[in-house]
Amino acid sequence: MKTKIEDIIKGFKTPESRWARFGPYYAMFPLDFAFEVVEKYSRQGDFIIDPFAGRGSSIYAGSVLGRHSLGIEINPVGWLYGSVKLKPADENKVIDRVLEVYSRRNYYNRKIDKMPLFYRMCYCDEVLKFLLSARHHLNWQTSNVDATLMSILLVYLHGKLGEGLSNQMRMSKAMGMKYSVEWWKKEKLISPPEINPAEFIIKKISWRYKKGKPEGCDSSIIFGDSTVELEKIVPKAQKSGIRFSLLFTSPPYCSVTDYYADQWLRLWLLGGLEIPKSRQHKHKGRFVSKDDYKGLLDAVFCNCANLMAKNSTIYVRTDRRDFTFNSTLEILKKYFPKHKTKVVERLFSKRTQTELHGNKSSETGEIDIIMIR
Ligand SMILES: C[S@@+](CC[C@H](N)C(=O)[O-])C[C@H]1O[C@@H](n2cnc3c(N)ncnc32)[C@H](O)[C@@H]1O
Repeated sequence: MKTKIEDIIKGFKTPESRWARFGPYYAMFPLDFAFEVVEKYSRQGDFIIDPFAGRGSSIYAGSVLGRHSLGIEINPVGWLYGSVKLKPADENKVIDRVLEVYSRRNYYNRKIDKMPLFYRMCYCDEVLKFLLSARHHLNWQTSNVDATLMSILLVYLHGKLGEGLSNQMRMSKAMGMKYSVEWWKKEKLISPPEINPAEFIIKKISWRYKKGKPEGCDSSIIFGDSTVELEKIVPKAQKSGIRFSLLFTSPPYCSVTDYYADQWLRLWLLGGLEIPKSRQHKHKGRFVSKDDYKGLLDAVFCNCANLMAKNSTIYVRTDRRDFTFNSTLEILKKYFPKHKTKVVERLFSKRTQTELHGNKSSETGEIDIIMIR
């Protein structure tokens, strides 16, 4: 088993390793950590749950290591990465779909003229027309082929020059529209790179599928809000007698990351607004209300407690800042009162941006809450 895990986390030799890192996402689990936790705290055939699945590394590790794994994720970007890597569609079908989408790009000749300057500086005309065609035609919520192609487009939507479809931009998170335009002007990157999008994407698809498709135990990630989805899962699991042995998750950190603002450009490709606005839904943006935050954790861990086996393990990675950590610990202890708790601090090994600017705060970093019976 050790060699299998090492092959996956170190190289690109197997289908499992090629798909494991699929999907740049903010605040994601390091891959080796996801595999280590699954291997150490569960056995083959066990059931694992992650109610804040992100790009699905916990669920993927579970599936590849032979655990039935169930995730829930509210952000469509994370959900697409996670669910596609568990079960990518056939390569030929995905390539056919690229060609179909590409063949319809010229319907968007006039539409691109009306788009904000940001898009014209970010993408050359051919890419922008192709993206509009994909945005219009791909039924990513209902078709596995379309979900696979869409998730591959999301991966390459922005990144370093030459590595993605865009003008120079970070891969992990999209910068704001105004900021990007000013920055490109300042850096003299006025013209986006000329790319043939179909050729570019087909090359990326061929690389990803070169060793085949990953094999795993039957596992899935639900696209939805855990506070709602768990209410449906609990009675079903109880009826069928299924008990989960590992709860392995990392909730959003209170008032830190905004998964919608960070991913605004990818969300646009999925049908979102051309000019992003801040979100109204209380679980979708950055948590500013401490009550809402505690309410989310309470609802989710209460339902999870109803799913877990008596001798289950609870492994929660969170932010070590006081409010997030204390609320998480308090709520976990409330719902798992008989478990023994161990807390392991994981200070960032690299210096953070704020430290580099003179703030010596030792507050940042992550903390793992491990509960065992
Ligand atoms: C810290 S991240 C998890 C990252 C994940 N461990 C990974 O490796 O990618 C927290 C995730 O919780 C999701 N989330 C927040 N509220 C949620 C809710 N009510 N239901 C489901 N997912 C939610 C966010 O969209 C985000 O992807």
